[in-house]
Amino acid sequence: MNKMPEFAILKVGDKEIQLPLVRGTEGDYAIDIARLRAETGMVTLDPSFMNTASCYSTITYIDGDNGILRYRGIPIEDLVKLGSFTKVAYLLVNGKLPTPEQSRNFSHLLNISSLLHEDMRHFFDHFPQGAHPMHILSTMINALAAFYPNVDLQSLSEDIDSSTARLISIVRTMAAVAYKKSIGEPVVYPRCDLKYCGNFLNMMFDSPVRPYVVRPEIERILNILFILHADHEQNCSTTAVRTVGSAQVNLYATISAGMSALSGPLHGGANQEVIKMLRLIEQDGNVDKFLKRAKDKNDPFRLMGFGHRVYKTYDPRADIIKKECHQLLETLEIRDSLLDVASEVEKAALNDEYFIERNLYPNVDFYTGIIYRAIGIPEDMFTVMFALARLPGWIAHWKEMIGHNTRIVRPRQVYIGKPRTPIF
Ligand code: CMC
Repeated sequence: MNKMPEFAILKVGDKEIQLPLVRGTEGDYAIDIARLRAETGMVTLDPSFMNTASCYSTITYIDGDNGILRYRGIPIEDLVKLGSFTKVAYLLVNGKLPTPEQSRNFSHLLNISSLLHEDMRHFFDHFPQGAHPMHILSTMINALAAFYPNVDLQSLSEDIDSSTARLISIVRTMAAVAYKKSIGEPVVYPRCDLKYCGNFLNMMFDSPVRPYVVRPEIERILNILFILHADHEQNCSTTAVRTVGSAQVNLYATISAGMSALSGPLHGGANQEVIKMLRLIEQDGNVDKFLKRAKDKNDPFRLMGFGHRVYKTYDPRADIIKKECHQLLETLEIRDSLLDVASEVEKAALNDEYFIERNLYPNVDFYTGIIYRAIGIPEDMFTVMFALARLPGWIAHWKEMIGHNTRIVRPRQVYIGKPRTPIF
């Protein structure tokens, strides 16, 4: 095998400069252009970061051509078998799976941090009826800084376990409170005898007149979905977290920025859009018509839950979720006609030239919503579920960024506006 050179040579006019090559653990190379402007006066142009690595990271590895995803080196398939979202959260934030003692301590921290400040509960009363829970949640996370003011970098990083636990635990409580308020039911408090996912399900579905019993198969699937969504390297919301956090904004405001980015239909909001789309296709009954629309450049319609910036093969998360979805529906003896529509759409798209040529496969969002429907999660909570799951990833990236003393993120631009146009 040819040895990779140590630098790339760039020729601009008569000038030739050497740009160092840097190598990742898995053999991927990047050209380090940090000195480019100083040496040539030029910047690089890469809208939407199609080809730009914005940082070094040790958290998550994706091989988009071969459908590989690992957190801290551990294959996602193994982490799914482990079956514990809180252990995976610990792994992402701390770099290693917890020992039994660390696991007990982390669970304890999650329990003692799970109560919402009582005064914060009143905030929920003043959002208009029908407000999207993602909007409520990002606002409430921002408000946390007012109630828990020790959010300067030093206090947070000195006790990262408590800061992490508080966010992961309290955001879950806020999500359940937002739901209860939206349906006009009394708020259910967290219980310290339940584990993270079971506790969330109980806060969502228990009521004084309809006691909820957490079913192990539902708790298991929620752990799996949360594990699969927990991190995905430099995606849009994580990039928002790193960008906002680089200005040394407090952790809550930083996470709230990630939450806002996630709410978009091209990102975390896609899981809700998939269900809307499947329902539309079911009502119409003509899959081909929707495939045609997705291919028509003059039609804004896209096949939601399909395609990915990084995966050019089947998303490994979608692969697991699809199998789990079939299995869960069978166990719960649920027949969901939208699963039939989804299978039909997938089959048609994977045999269509347009989708084949562009390597468009189902992504993590394609089957997720069908599982959420089966376990009783309302559609406007789907993206909130994604956000709860992504929290440890955002925190891990924030921690990694502050640990590297990252400079403030501040891209350049190529100005193509008017030349100097004096008005006097
Ligand atoms: N339906 C129809 N055509 C598509 C789709 C789709 N879902 N996705 C991509 N394409 C086409 C696109 O029109 C373009 O065609 P052409 O080369 O002829 O112009 C080509 O495929 C490349 O697409 P792109 O938009 O340039 O790719 P991107 O990397 O900028 O966007 C994406 C990635 C996920 C935003 C996009 O595939 C998409 O909009 N998918 C639907 C929304 C969705 O499911 N989002 C969830 C993503 S996974 C969860 C997450 O990470 O948040």
